[in-house]
Amino acid sequence: MKMSRRTFLKTGGVLIVVVAGGGVYRAADQGVFSSGQGLAYEPWKDWRDATTSSERIVGAGILAANPHNSQPWHFRISEQAVDLYADYTRQIGVIDPVQREMHIGLGCAVENMTLAAQAEGFTVEVSLLPDGTDPQHVAHLALAAGQSQVSDLYNAIPNRHTNRSPYDLTRTVAPDMLASLAALSDDDAVQVFWYADVAAKDKFGTYELAAAEALIADEQQSIDSNHWWRQGWADLQAHRDGITIDAQSFDSLLDMAAKMLPDQSRQQGDAVFVQNTRDIYISTASAFGLIAVHDQKDNVQRMHAGQLWQRMHLWATVHELGMQPLNQMCERADRERQQRIDPVFGRALRDLTGSDDWQGIMPFRLGYPTRTGLASPRRSIQEVLL
Ligand SMILES: Cc1cc2nc3c(=O)[nH]c(=O)nc-3n(C[C@H](O)[C@H](O)[C@H](O)COP(=O)(O)O)c2cc1C
Repeated sequence: MKMSRRTFLKTGGVLIVVVAGGGVYRAADQGVFSSGQGLAYEPWKDWRDATTSSERIVGAGILAANPHNSQPWHFRISEQAVDLYADYTRQIGVIDPVQREMHIGLGCAVENMTLAAQAEGFTVEVSLLPDGTDPQHVAHLALAAGQSQVSDLYNAIPNRHTNRSPYDLTRTVAPDMLASLAALSDDDAVQVFWYADVAAKDKFGTYELAAAEALIADEQQSIDSNHWWRQGWADLQAHRDGITIDAQSFDSLLDMAAKMLPDQSRQQGDAVFVQNTRDIYISTASAFGLIAVHDQKDNVQRMHAGQLWQRMHLWATVHELGMQPLNQMCERADRERQQRIDPVFGRALRDLTGSDDWQGIMPFRLGYPTRTGLASPRRSIQEVLL
């Protein structure tokens, strides 16, 4: 997302000299040999180890997908319930000016926690925005004694990672797989639209590339996005959030080069993001999808969309598919509304669903990945408990 494939591949030869010349210290400092290790990655390994059921349910919640890995959540637990709260201090600025993505991410956490509560032996009743007077209190999960249901989706929780690698152009995701993914929606008011034939993919890809270009041309959006970029190993271990080099799924040489070289500027990162959007995310997608709801301003509907995204991504993980959200069209449409400017991407999204009644809020790509998706850092259960 942020690295220049071309730049780092060109530096491959230099890199070997640097390592041989003693740069091995920088390599170690930068976590070149430590992918997925350190405290920032412990939550992926010890998510089932906490003492109480409620803590273990939170341990599943914090592994959910969420915008820019901002982890915009707090949890309050008792023996009978887990309550989820939005943490507005972790909002990603004008990338998400109306907290659409934040609520989708909170819905993702609800989905993981529901699966974990069922595995823990509870019958779960989920209430979204249960307190009309407190918009920060976004979900209440009431836990009652029941029978343990350990699902494939639950077991996939620690293996699900956003996959930004090229997808295999020789393998098409079969139409019945797309149908199975869309059928995971248990709510008539949340629907998946697919763009799988050449013409539909072309239309989606053209809009997505234009949105990525418009996003980096908006200085404040560029600054707010860059704020969550963690190029340094110490930085990511300290913050335990944000977007990392490992999460880009580069090939191993490029990954090493990206870690060894000095931090790149915001402008370089933006250029690489557009390049990867064009040459990897769009060019290698087997299909694109768009989760849509009837009212994209409604936080409950946004959370329903998040629950579905997380469920689909877990299902995809079980079936060895890669998935990656591509939210630039929606990020631009939200920004257009905020700035009261020409709704270029509002119209694009309307064009993609073909109806005012279905409003797209979560665009993405999928396919068979050529490289493994790696874990992103997470804050611990203790850090997010109220
Ligand atoms: C609402 C939402 C929007 C997202 N938008 C993007 C996106 O535009 N591009 C991208 O590469 N990842 C996107 N992601 C993925 C997150 O960056 C990812 O979930 C987060 O970094 C944590 O990593 P993980 O999913 O591998 O655990 C989005 C996720 C959510 C929930």
